[in-house]
Amino acid sequence: MFGVCAMALAAELLLLRVHPFGDAGAAAQAPSREQTGAVDPVRGKALFEKRCTGCHALTTDHEGPRLEKVYGRASGSVAGFPYSDALKKAHVVWEDGSLDKWLTDPDVFLPGNNMDFLVAKPQERKDLIAYFKQSAGK
Ligand code: HEC
Repeated sequence: MFGVCAMALAAELLLLRVHPFGDAGAAAQAPSREQTGAVDPVRGKALFEKRCTGCHALTTDHEGPRLEKVYGRASGSVAGFPYSDALKKAHVVWEDGSLDKWLTDPDVFLPGNNMDFLVAKPQERKDLIAYFKQSAGK
């Protein structure tokens, strides 16, 4: 019985000691990129290579159309690519707002499209868009 009490006391002391240090650590942390809104095109390039190149390349069409200079390009405009009617009729220009909506959920933005993929994390979308923007020279 005494043993259990001593252990409980020890655990409580440990909590009291550890807790203030934990808080101090959190307060000292630099704000995250999510908080500052900073974008990272280098990370965007890595994300493109990891997530998008299963279906897209920059200069050739695969399951998805080529994405070179997609920033500033009209939707559905790669000649000869078999776009869905949804994308052909969309008439959007791919820039920050439209790319963010497309990558958040293509089916919500342009129902009936053929892209079976989305990017759930806002920071990842921002980094990807920064990469497309930079590589299109915009
Ligand atoms: C599973 C395959 C697949 C993956 C993975 C994929 N896409 Fe696509 N993407 C497509 C297809 C197919 C289309 C054409 C959709 C249509 O015609 O409705 C498309 C179209 C697009 C378009 C419109 C291009 C235009 O010419 O109008 C953009 C922009 C795009 N994808 C970006 C991305 C990005 C960025 C990623 C990675 C985060 C990605 N896609 C991942 C298949 C994919």
